[in-house]
Amino acid sequence: MMSNLSVDHLLGIKYLKKSDIDLIFKTADNFKKIINQPIKKVPSLRDITIANLFFENSTRTKLSFELAEKRLSADVINFASASSSVKKGETLLDTVNNILAMKVDIVVMRHPNPGASVFLSRNIDAKIVNAGDGAHEHPTQALLDAYSIREKYGEVEGKKVVIVGDILHSRVALSNIYCLQKLGAEVKVCGPSSLMPKHLDALGVTHFPDLKEALQWCDVANVLRIQLERQDVNYFPSLREYAMVYGVDKEVLDGLDKEITIMHPGPINRGVELSSDVADSDHAIILDQVENGVAIRMAVLYLLAGKIKNN
Ligand code: CP
Repeated sequence: MMSNLSVDHLLGIKYLKKSDIDLIFKTADNFKKIINQPIKKVPSLRDITIANLFFENSTRTKLSFELAEKRLSADVINFASASSSVKKGETLLDTVNNILAMKVDIVVMRHPNPGASVFLSRNIDAKIVNAGDGAHEHPTQALLDAYSIREKYGEVEGKKVVIVGDILHSRVALSNIYCLQKLGAEVKVCGPSSLMPKHLDALGVTHFPDLKEALQWCDVANVLRIQLERQDVNYFPSLREYAMVYGVDKEVLDGLDKEITIMHPGPINRGVELSSDVADSDHAIILDQVENGVAIRMAVLYLLAGKIKNN
């Protein structure tokens, strides 16, 4: 196995090789053991300073990165655009260069614009981790999702995964498709045609218009939130009607002739894409995904920091 990543930044799963993903998973296995011990902290990133720049709302990703950084003993600074000088018209590059002047080694950034992380990586001298850029990619989410499938089934290769919901506006969907396919899973999508991107064929992904057929086909259903904040027009008549046709509830699961695993990246709109009796059931591994997110982010940061020391 490789001893370090083939990339200098984590900008998207698109840029990773399968061997990168295998290395991240192997490294996360070690960190997962550590964070389940009484002493959860290691000194691995003691000399590294990390800035978490969040230009968009986040609960899970922000807390998970911050915890991962602290478990690795990094120095951490946090930035939220709502309370910053971005509101006074400062550009992204000026904001980040001012932060870097404080000797920051790694920038973790969530930004509403697709490509914002790629732009930063070309213009500043720090390792960049994309924590979600618009409707483009959310690489650590896809890594923790695939890692959770591997944990549940022993391997990702050969598994059938359906991604249900708003594929058109979802960075989680695109990163999951890249990641799962690189690991040898078969990926399909399900949802209203109006929420399917035009380039599905180019991604090697087919579309189930019917939820029951999709769930009957899959081993794992990764159910996504309807991204109302990114929808500029109405893509379906109402949330109530969406829930009636595409909502995953106990009745739908009871109608299948097999058991499937339910995943969700969060935040959940309970009663829309997922009912509470499914979200809180033994079918769901949603909180395992959250736990694995810390180990995956520790692995990514540790491996990128290794590249700083080697430079
Ligand atoms: N899954 C995810 O990205 O959640 P947050 O938006 O809360 O970070």
